[in-house]
Amino acid sequence: MSRIAVVPGSFDPVTLGHIDVIARAADLYDELHVVVVHNPGKTALLPLDVRVELITKAIANAGLPNNIVVASWGEGLLVDYCSKVGAKVVIKGIRNQADVTYETPMALVNRNLAGIETMFMLPEPGHAYVSSSLVRQVAALKGDVRPYVPHIVADYLNTAR
Ligand code: PNS
Repeated sequence: MSRIAVVPGSFDPVTLGHIDVIARAADLYDELHVVVVHNPGKTALLPLDVRVELITKAIANAGLPNNIVVASWGEGLLVDYCSKVGAKVVIKGIRNQADVTYETPMALVNRNLAGIETMFMLPEPGHAYVSSSLVRQVAALKGDVRPYVPHIVADYLNTAR
């Protein structure tokens, strides 16, 4: 039986912290689905298809293993995506206590809804302060986002200005 896990997120945009967690998770599971999910609580900067494209290219550029599938899930519950692909585990990166507080209710709801367990994974400490919202802010104010995101994302944000 193959072990399948899902790394969901807004990925608006994907950061080096996300890529770090994706790489670690891909090592632990036979198949890893990185799923760009619509978060009803957030207004997105980048369209879903652009986020999928940037993640796909960033994963390829980073030389990550080929057991990673990138997909989008525009509407509907995350647990329905998990059922569709046969995943029993969701993996989320945890940078600090605020992330634990934010992620815990979602993890419990996903377990109540469909028995999906959530595993929290720590990123490399050097990435622990990086967030998509900070990257969006730095990009909007014409700062240099290259230390925080894959090259392909920095190039996209620079040309989109
Ligand atoms: O990167 P984010 O925005 O913190 O990711 C949150 C996300 C998109 C994974 C979460 O909002 C989500 O799962 N949305 C899909 C709707 C859903 O399943 N809601 C119920 C469980 S939280």
